[in-house]
Amino acid sequence: MRDEYLTTNQGEPVTDDQNSLTVGQRGPTLLQDIVLLEKLAHFDRERIPERVVHAKGAGAHGYFKVYKSMGSYTKAKFLQDPSKETPVFVRFSVVIGSRGVADTVRDVRGFAVKFYTEDGNYDLVGNNLPVFFIRDAIKFPDLIHALKPDPVSNIPVDSAANSRFWDYMSLIPEATHMLTWVFSDLGTIKSYRFMEGFGVNTYKWINAKGKAMLIKYHWKPLGGVQYIDSKEAKRLAGIDPDIASRDLFNTLASGKTVEYELLIQMMNLKDQDKQDFDPLDATKIWPEDKFPLMPVGKMVLNRNPQNFFAEVEQSAFCPAAIVPGIDFSNDKLLQGRIFSYGDTQRYRLGANYLELPINRPKVPVNNNQQDGFMQIMPNMGSANYYPNTIGGGLPKHAPETGIPENPYVEGKVVREKISKTDDYTQAGDRYRSMNKTEQDHLVSNIVENLSCADKAIQDRMLVHFKKADKEFGNRIAKGLKG
Ligand code: HEM
Repeated sequence: MRDEYLTTNQGEPVTDDQNSLTVGQRGPTLLQDIVLLEKLAHFDRERIPERVVHAKGAGAHGYFKVYKSMGSYTKAKFLQDPSKETPVFVRFSVVIGSRGVADTVRDVRGFAVKFYTEDGNYDLVGNNLPVFFIRDAIKFPDLIHALKPDPVSNIPVDSAANSRFWDYMSLIPEATHMLTWVFSDLGTIKSYRFMEGFGVNTYKWINAKGKAMLIKYHWKPLGGVQYIDSKEAKRLAGIDPDIASRDLFNTLASGKTVEYELLIQMMNLKDQDKQDFDPLDATKIWPEDKFPLMPVGKMVLNRNPQNFFAEVEQSAFCPAAIVPGIDFSNDKLLQGRIFSYGDTQRYRLGANYLELPINRPKVPVNNNQQDGFMQIMPNMGSANYYPNTIGGGLPKHAPETGIPENPYVEGKVVREKISKTDDYTQAGDRYRSMNKTEQDHLVSNIVENLSCADKAIQDRMLVHFKKADKEFGNRIAKGLKG
């Protein structure tokens, strides 16, 4: 509920904010009109930088519950007790377009979950497709530059822009597998309620005895998976560009819930070198027949944000936000992500972005960091250093929970690709695993898009597609000629 009377931001009652203070009825306007000045000045500052990727999104609150204790695999406190509800905030997003992009365009979708746990925030920042275009974070700025609008024209989808996209894709063979996902009908959706989620990167779970397992995360929508074809996506982009955001908001506003199951795949650390692919390579899935999906728990979304800007726009998800029992693997894409999110958020939202209510942990934050722009939750007391005696030696180091993992790492310092790149096997496997309609749509979606690119670029792409699967490549070649 808002109070009855208008005030300025200083709290002074405002008797009229519809007529400027002028000399006579027809002006000029006086500089001393603080109501006008404050109103315009605040308006002038309403926009903050949009996310450099995933600019458009929709958010929801809810909770997460494990089905049974995961204690044998992880000491993470929120994964132990099936009677405990851990609050979550989720943001679904479109990756490449700016804030006003249509929800149905062909793209990857973000699936970011913030768990407010008793050991601080755990962010599982995933996508709706299980693999990624690249396997090393150092390529990410190149990838996004090639996918975003042309820096000359700022036009996202015309032949020139498509040439930039395909020019880059044709030069990074590791993207071939991801292209078989993005150009399938999973690349066009109209509802976040029927979309899967994947952690994509490989993480580690560590139990109280210090034993670590490699983990891949999956989210399955309990309402089933739904997607649309490219024709429908284009039609809806014109009719209702906000269809997925609207669908989520209206569903929750009507009192219904939206539910997803969390599952994991696990791999023993000692088995990683035994695979014919590199399990830390984000361009690869782990075959489910060898690494079966294990259900972990259920997430229920049941509440809309009260204010889009405060909760959705200012939310800051970060793969570096982990809790005891969960750790990073050496996945080179993940390693770069650990830096990039907090870094951009300090720029996008400011140094004290974790003090904003949506980002603030639900447990006390206690350390000797201080000050900075917009600091609102100071750490109290004079002893703002450690060690100290005047503050009773507090805050002190928290006790280790369980036995730490302490992994051992040794090697030559190099800038080198991983040895098991195998850029094509899984791309071919995916094409062959599709039914006839799915294959037809994948081929026609690629043909339609790639036909805008230069012939030399098309030829380079055909080499990759043919290496993945001869029939797949030949069908695209035929389509391009037609
Ligand atoms: C090295 C590779 C990557 C880098 C450097 C990177 C970087 C970024 C950055 C800078 C943002 C904007 C964050 C913000 O302004 O709050 C972002 C957003 C996001 N990224 Fe990544 N990203 C990478 C790969 C991935 C991958 C593989 C996934 C999926 C597993 C992913 C999922 C997301 C999601 C879901 C968001 C939006 C979070 C939100 O809703 O606010 N990114 N990424």
